[in-house]
Amino acid sequence: MKKIAVFASGTGSNFTKIFENIKKNLIPAELSCLITDNSHAGAIQFAKSNRIPVFTISPGNYSSGPEFGEALLQIIGEYKIEWIVLAGYLKKIPDNVVQIFSNRILNIHPALLPAFGGKGMYGIHVHEAVLASGAKVSGVTVHLVNMKYDAGPIVMQRAVDIEDCSSAAEIAKKVLRTEHDLYSIALQKILTVPSRVIGNRVVFGIPD
Ligand code: GRF
Repeated sequence: MKKIAVFASGTGSNFTKIFENIKKNLIPAELSCLITDNSHAGAIQFAKSNRIPVFTISPGNYSSGPEFGEALLQIIGEYKIEWIVLAGYLKKIPDNVVQIFSNRILNIHPALLPAFGGKGMYGIHVHEAVLASGAKVSGVTVHLVNMKYDAGPIVMQRAVDIEDCSSAAEIAKKVLRTEHDLYSIALQKILTVPSRVIGNRVVFGIPD
């Protein structure tokens, strides 16, 4: 059973879904704690009512990125965390955390990377850009986190047909449904199937 920490800044619907799928034994993991930067995150209430320890750690309270990273690493160390799962976490993970957790941090992005990713591309901004581009297909990407925004090795992707969507909100809603399925599938796979990073892809079935 791998110990995971989920990081979330907002509603936490992906966090909730992962929690439920762990409870159903679909993901062999122990959800050890929730880390957030936002004391109003919806995820907090859900975590508390399910007796998951919650830590609110705001980068604004630290004088540098590395110090913020140290604060995160302290909790992660305390709970013996093996994997970090970002679920709508809006802050950049400090480099010292990425280094220590190299290829053990997962993120979900609500579009098909490398399109519509990078700094400033989060939440509804992603879906607005997709709509403005005229694309008829968007999707979901689960990837490993490296030091560049949305650029780490791709674990899994799934396309979502958005031809019937006429607003960014409609795209967001449709894409989120796929996120809820794909994140648990990707997490289960990466925790159980040997894999190796080749180029910018996670290739399964080949031990590292
Ligand atoms: C999701 O669209 C996720 O892809 C993005 O932020 C959103 C979080 O949604 N990174 P929720 O908080 O899990 O409901």
